[in-house]
Amino acid sequence: MVDPKLSDILGILPFPALAITAEEKISFMNVMAMQLFGQGLIGRHYVNALRYPNLLDAIEATLKDKELRNARYQGTIAQREVVYEVSCNFDLADHLILIFDDKSGIEDANQMRRDFIANVSHELKTPLTALIGFVETLQATAKDDPNAREQFLAIMKSEAQRMDRLIADLLSLSRVEASERVRPTQRVNLKDAVTESIEALVPLIEKSNPKLVIELSKSPIEVMGEGDQLRQVFINLLENAIKYGKNGGVITISLSEPYYEPKLRKDAVSLSVKDEGIGIDPIHIPRLTERFYRVDTHRSREMGGTGLGLAIVKHIMNRHRGRFMIDSTLGSGTEVKLLLPVY
Ligand SMILES: Nc1ncnc2c1ncn2[C@@H]1O[C@H](COP(=O)(O)OP(=O)(O)OP(=O)(O)O)[C@@H](O)[C@H]1O
Ligand SMILES: [Mg+2]
Repeated sequence: MVDPKLSDILGILPFPALAITAEEKISFMNVMAMQLFGQGLIGRHYVNALRYPNLLDAIEATLKDKELRNARYQGTIAQREVVYEVSCNFDLADHLILIFDDKSGIEDANQMRRDFIANVSHELKTPLTALIGFVETLQATAKDDPNAREQFLAIMKSEAQRMDRLIADLLSLSRVEASERVRPTQRVNLKDAVTESIEALVPLIEKSNPKLVIELSKSPIEVMGEGDQLRQVFINLLENAIKYGKNGGVITISLSEPYYEPKLRKDAVSLSVKDEGIGIDPIHIPRLTERFYRVDTHRSREMGGTGLGLAIVKHIMNRHRGRFMIDSTLGSGTEVKLLLPVY
């Protein structure tokens, strides 16, 4: 038997813990250990219950030499992958005590960092490979061909611009993330911000020629915010509506009067950008704010997209304590709605 005091302590620990006797039988498991390994294992040999080679080796060695040892354990709790660092140690009554320290958060963060670096490298490598290829062609076969030179230089310019945009978006994302916990302090006139965002997109608007329907509130609306960031949000949404909207289709931009918004439990305004474009399959919607996530990578890339636009929107809306919702029907269009508290 494990000392009742010790089992009380192990019982309330917020992570899995269990004890093994000198006869190599499991004598105690707390609730979290049962979630990890299952019930009905008390009294059984530890090898039948734990089954993870790394951990079994550590237990065997510690039972022999009674030295403190750590081992890594990977398992699943409620269909979630978990990673623990397990310390194997002896109590005074010669039980081997296993304590499981949850390292899943650190592992997840490391994985995200690795994915992010892999994504950035891949996004930069594609235009860079194209650039190198064209430079080599210009140095060799196309050296004396003025037509080819013009054509290749134009492609090279657009690939270089693509890398430039990617870097600008990454910098913008990192600035936005860094400021996310800092409350914005400017008073921003939302009607002006919307109008200025539309003006910033005039070249793109002229190219794809959407019919803009603009329904702005009658009264001026001020929120506490950061003007540059809010304009960036409107530009990103409007740019998506133009890029993924129907050529020549209607894009409706509407800004409401202030009202009591139950979702935020305070007075707010809503801003909606609605297009008549290709729409988005519902399975993609929850993932659209992930960095580099694109529904149709090819189409987005063709339009110069990096898949960072909505990730930036999400962080800015978090900072402004707002909400951001996407409602879309495949084939008939998308509406993105922002809720922003007014103070
Ligand atoms: N209005 C829309 N209609 C249809 N699909 C959309 C719309 N807005 C976004 N999407 C889809 O969501 C994806 C992610 O959008 P996001 O703005 O984050 O990236 P992007 O437009 O590809 O690139 P970026 O905005 O960085 O230039 C897009 O690639 C597109 O597939
Ligand atoms: Mg975009």
